[in-house]
Amino acid sequence: MARPKIALIGAGMIGGTLAHMAAMKELGDIVLFDIAEGIPEGKALDIAESGPSEGFDASLKGTQDYADIAGADVCIVTAGVPRKPGMSRDDLLGINLKVMKAVGEGIKAHAPNAFVICITNPLDAMVWALREFSGLPHNMVCGMAGVLDSARFRHFLAEEFGVSMRDVTAFVLGGHGDTMVPLARYSTVGGIPLPDLVGMGWTSQEKLDAIVQRTRDGGAEIVGLLKTGSAYYAPATSAIEMAVAYLKDQKRVLPCAAHVDGAYGLDGLYVGVPTVIGAGGVERVIDIKLDKDEQAMFDKSVSAVKGLVKACKEIDGALA
Ligand code: APR
Repeated sequence: MARPKIALIGAGMIGGTLAHMAAMKELGDIVLFDIAEGIPEGKALDIAESGPSEGFDASLKGTQDYADIAGADVCIVTAGVPRKPGMSRDDLLGINLKVMKAVGEGIKAHAPNAFVICITNPLDAMVWALREFSGLPHNMVCGMAGVLDSARFRHFLAEEFGVSMRDVTAFVLGGHGDTMVPLARYSTVGGIPLPDLVGMGWTSQEKLDAIVQRTRDGGAEIVGLLKTGSAYYAPATSAIEMAVAYLKDQKRVLPCAAHVDGAYGLDGLYVGVPTVIGAGGVERVIDIKLDKDEQAMFDKSVSAVKGLVKACKEIDGALA
């Protein structure tokens, strides 16, 4: 059987890291697409030259031609600009919306059967726009944010408790921005929910609140340190986890920016929710019951996402 084909649209910091990881894990043959001449070709060649030492079999190609992504099984989109210190993800909207139009049309023409994972920010609005421009089925287009936000939450919790992060589960709902909703009640250590751990004296409510805030600010913390761009190792790892769930039909329960139509009282909005990802793409949206406070936080996050979608429609009349 031929190897799966992985198309990476955008060959910058995240795109290059994705290519390296996909090659090391032998997920398939890799095409790196970028408008910057030489960058995708250079990264493809550099990674291919690491193959003999690492011992992986994968072909890598860099290109500026959408025809080269033809028949891709998975497309991971990072094309666009990242933020600099002082910028919010929302500041990227105008420029990255134009990029989503070009990318969506490229995928529509050459890889209409792919499972598409968008990473470009502001995430929830960009994945919505990418779906609109590509015309692919909603279940085949999603955004990577929840896996990353949950991973950040899990990392901070594992550090606080001094336990393996393997045994920490965490749920983060809502938009990928300042209004994201880390759900303490549904986050556990070895199955024990966080509020119980506070009761058991493992941590204090104040410390837990600080960890929740650090999770919300997780992206900005990295931008502040790097100064020239945003995070790329953990975002790439998170998207690879989603791609593997699709390629291997794992039916993983993963939070992602999915098209929510009916669940959570929403009628067709892309926002972060728990989902099941398998060979059918986003196969299911899991509609968990929220308490009053959680619902209020989720509503705030949903209205922030709706505002960004509205802004997209104002910028590009074709989306209205
Ligand atoms: N088509 C293809 N590639 C494009 C286009 C386009 N129309 N416009 C820009 N690019 C490419 C750039 O040439 C660059 O190589 O997208 C790449 C983006 O890479 P980086 O600037 O290194 O950004 P990165 O850190 O990878 O983040 C990409 O993901 O997390 C988000 O906020 C982040 O929106 C940003 C995206």
